[in-house]
Amino acid sequence: MCGIVVYVGSKQASPILMKGLKRLEYRGYDSAGIALLNKNVRVFKSKGKVADLEKHIAGQNLEATVGIAHTRWATHGEPNNINAHPHYSQSKELAIIHNGIIENYDSLKKELVNRGYVFESDTDTEVLIYLIEDIQKNEQVDLFEAVRIALNQVIGAYAIVIISKNEPNVLIGARKGSPLVIGVGEGEYYIASDASPIIEYTKHVVYLEEEEVAFVKLNHPLKIKTIKNQEKTPYIEKLEMNLSELEKEGFEHFMLKEIYEQPRSIRDSFRGRLNLEQGIVNMGGINEYEQKLLNARRIIIIACGTSWHAGLVGEYLFEDLARIPVEVEYASEFRYRNPILTEDDVVIAISQSGETADTLAAIELAKSKGATILGVCNVVGSSIARAAHAGAFTHAGPEIGVASTKAFTAQVTVLTLMALALAQRKGTLTSTRFMEILTEINSIPEKVEKTLKTSQQVIEIAEKFKDVRNFLYLGRGYNFPVALEGALKLKEISYIHAEGYPAAEMKHGPIALIDADMPIVFIATNKGTYVKVVSNILEVKARKGIVIAIVTEGDIQVKELADYVIEIPETEEMLVPLLATIPLQKLSYHIAVMRGCNVDQPRNLAKSVTVE
Ligand code: AGP
Ligand code: GLU
Repeated sequence: MCGIVVYVGSKQASPILMKGLKRLEYRGYDSAGIALLNKNVRVFKSKGKVADLEKHIAGQNLEATVGIAHTRWATHGEPNNINAHPHYSQSKELAIIHNGIIENYDSLKKELVNRGYVFESDTDTEVLIYLIEDIQKNEQVDLFEAVRIALNQVIGAYAIVIISKNEPNVLIGARKGSPLVIGVGEGEYYIASDASPIIEYTKHVVYLEEEEVAFVKLNHPLKIKTIKNQEKTPYIEKLEMNLSELEKEGFEHFMLKEIYEQPRSIRDSFRGRLNLEQGIVNMGGINEYEQKLLNARRIIIIACGTSWHAGLVGEYLFEDLARIPVEVEYASEFRYRNPILTEDDVVIAISQSGETADTLAAIELAKSKGATILGVCNVVGSSIARAAHAGAFTHAGPEIGVASTKAFTAQVTVLTLMALALAQRKGTLTSTRFMEILTEINSIPEKVEKTLKTSQQVIEIAEKFKDVRNFLYLGRGYNFPVALEGALKLKEISYIHAEGYPAAEMKHGPIALIDADMPIVFIATNKGTYVKVVSNILEVKARKGIVIAIVTEGDIQVKELADYVIEIPETEEMLVPLLATIPLQKLSYHIAVMRGCNVDQPRNLAKSVTVE
């Protein structure tokens, strides 16, 4: 959940660390800190944002070429100056930063307290560094070995980095369940939670694997061992990411930039996969598993949040186009449900970050039961991408805004392609129909471009409703997940309560909420259940509800009924989510900005949820 950035080399560490923290702040942001090593280990930390830490360290002597830095998303102990990372060991000779949860911290802490240790913070992290120091002293081993031994006693998840006064120019990193990547530069090393703080200095990286411990020493080759003491050969990979992808490029917020990137990101997600001339869809990453998918008893899609919404669109797509039965599950429920799975099931795990703990655990469970796992991830090299047997990357580029936007449309695009590839193999679509859909996908980026131009209407609606307390989002068929996603976006960033519902379900309960103050967003495009949705709109109007409708260009019927209308271009029914989501993303964005909310870093949320 948190962000880790670390440096050892010949440059001054603190500017690199502070810049890195800003890049990582999207991961967690309730407090931040750095520890610098120059003869002694000195820790500076503060509650709040990286900007607060910046103020805190201004004017201090920050001379050091080795340092570790952290931005926290609290799990154990409230976000305050003391619980912020880094944490010292008892002697203050070591300092640690940690992402994750040490589940058995309580019993370890009791044992250490019994032996006379005094703790300062409420965190699980401090227990780990005390334990490491205790082992180092009692067993007379170096830091690398002490960390390895300690991690054998730990239950839980961690990405950690430790520095020691007695081993200058050495960093010890380790991971289990939380990502850690080592940047290998010329006479310098970096370590971080993801590649974003490293990319401007080096493109050569080593991703640590589960339960690996790294010994990183200046001017020495990297050494990696498992916590069970097995030597590993570091595998250096080349990063494909560009620095410009991590900047706001003139937009006021990352979220807005990412909304506007969608014509490009959608195109990137089908580039090289959709071949109009030859009339084929080629999903390179999963070719090997195509037979498995075609023969699957069913497909189970597991995901969380927005990715789960994309999964729901996937359910309609696979059933509709390829006639394969699908179930869509919240990863967090699935993993504790003792699900019935066999070797004939194919699990598709969807995740932007590729690090979501619940999704990862659900994958492990499904794997243990023999199911085939396909990943649909955005972050290359992420844990979920590596845990899956095969998969397809969404290629949306780094998504920094905590509220997911372009990742959703890229996920839906990839699922559409997967469903089409299977439909072609199975012969569930005529070749004319197949070609019609393919051609239409190719024109989606242009149509998204056009949809993005509806700003004025969206701003007017946002202005009108920015102060309401409740919103309802309704849609049917392919537009039901769009309604859910629209509601999630609004609540995440504007803190207005919003519910997404299948439009027909409204009469089974939510209709009681409707009065003259209640805005109801209908996704009422012209295909599928359009006529039924018109009836649902009439039911709302009969109760004086305010109707905001997303309609297809040229619509007449809904326009007459609705109070506010946003038009989107005509498209195939199964592709409507790619267009209809756009104005909803923009509506929440503008409402949040008008309410003065922190759009890119909404309260209590984090970009990648690496805890249960
Ligand atoms: C999206 O706006 C949310 N912040 C959140 O629901 C997110 O989609 C969820 O946590 C899953 O993340 P993942 O796609 O990285 O697995
Ligand atoms: N569990 C640790 C804490 O609460 C680390 C949280 C994080 O990943 O930021 O301090």
